[in-house]
Amino acid sequence: MSKTKRRYICQACGGVSHRWQGQCPDCAEWNSLVEDTPASVFSAKHDLSNGGRAIEFVPLDAPGEKLERRSTGLPEFDRALGGGLVPGAAILMGGDPGIGKSTLLLQASAKLAQTGADVVYVSGEEAAGQVRLRAERLGHAKAPIRLASATSVRDILTTLGRGPAPTLLVIDSIQTMHSDTIEGAPGTVSQVRGCAFELIRYAKENGTVLVLVGHVTKDGNIAGPRVLEHMVDVVMSFEGERSHQYRILRALKNRFGAVDEIGVFAMAGQGLEEVPNPSSLFLTGRETPIAGSAVFPALEGTRPVLVEVQALIVRLQSGATPRRAVVGWDSSRLAMLLAVLESRCGLNFSSAEVYLNVSGGYRLSDPAADLAVAAALVSALANRPLPLRSTWFGEVSLAGEVRPVAHAGLRLREAAKLGFDAASGPAEVGEVPKAMRYDAVDRLPKLVDRIIGAS
Ligand code: TYD
Ligand code: MG
Repeated sequence: MSKTKRRYICQACGGVSHRWQGQCPDCAEWNSLVEDTPASVFSAKHDLSNGGRAIEFVPLDAPGEKLERRSTGLPEFDRALGGGLVPGAAILMGGDPGIGKSTLLLQASAKLAQTGADVVYVSGEEAAGQVRLRAERLGHAKAPIRLASATSVRDILTTLGRGPAPTLLVIDSIQTMHSDTIEGAPGTVSQVRGCAFELIRYAKENGTVLVLVGHVTKDGNIAGPRVLEHMVDVVMSFEGERSHQYRILRALKNRFGAVDEIGVFAMAGQGLEEVPNPSSLFLTGRETPIAGSAVFPALEGTRPVLVEVQALIVRLQSGATPRRAVVGWDSSRLAMLLAVLESRCGLNFSSAEVYLNVSGGYRLSDPAADLAVAAALVSALANRPLPLRSTWFGEVSLAGEVRPVAHAGLRLREAAKLGFDAASGPAEVGEVPKAMRYDAVDRLPKLVDRIIGAS
């Protein structure tokens, strides 16, 4: 009797194991392995070098169709997409539950439908009535969207196959979809992958833009369907702190454009509002100089965004292990920066608790943030406020040097535009705007001297 080969797929990362284990060997998630039945068994008996249809080769420089992009009607959404929707594109929209994915897509669908496009919105999570209520609240009650509440991919594709293909098809969410050709409950890797495959095939054949909503697990992966990331053309992530109103839309992968542009939104009573000038938003409420606050001209793609870095230092009396808590920045990078400040500048943080926060729920990934964080830390430690209208940027090395960063000119111009009249950063920056004083800080001790004073 031949033994059937069993395999187990991790629902978190898609890793394959040949025996069941309590913990996934790939991503270390617990209880995530689920048995999977392979769709087909390959054997040497199948010879594929015969019996196929001839495929057609075309020269690379053949005159192809031009990539026609279509606006979503939300310029911030278009910007994050690299210029709009491309027909036939499959887009995965990931984000935490409750962050606003359905709201964003309903607004974009309504705007697109109002321009005459045929838009189909299928919700597997909410009843049609609920979606309609939301549309009313968003002021789009009259938008000519074709709305359905369904979870069977067969039903959806059969229905769509009976008429002309829509311009946009939104599936909210892929985890609720179910295909009767595949075993397993909705949301399992095999279901998610199978359903996505069928829907993507429909989109490619019909030139429909497909948007799949995918919920994200706590560790930031698009749940289970990380396996989807290579099946789709575009992976978008909708981010933000739920307690804050700001939301950032970014592309993590884009076959049709750059991945470094962001779209900024604010969640308000009537849905998401676009924020064309994000700097003003991340800097609200800065009127009096406060120790521990430094402004950093961050760069998202080609777009400069000024954000405030806040540090708080609390001296401990007892010998308890001090806490380090970070929101919006990398905690190991903070540990490194503290070590550099201790060993190169002689500052002492070892008996103090250190808290670091980036305002507005913004997440910094730009390495040029080092100097702004250092300035905030030194200012908090010394209890000396930094000048209100000053900005700080530069990458700090382990030796305590301040290294040049990309697009210094762009950062300085944005800061000057918003009324900042002083900046500190690496020695080489190129042109500095006229209204701005630039202090080159080539080493961290120099920064400390400048903030604490040579006293
Ligand atoms: P939703 O789009 O349902 O999130 P997701 O689809 O990502 O799970 O957004 C839900 C949250 O947004 C909910 O907590 C309420 C809030 N919200 C507003 O603040 N204003 C609004 O106009 C709408 C529609 C939602
Ligand atoms: Mg939703």
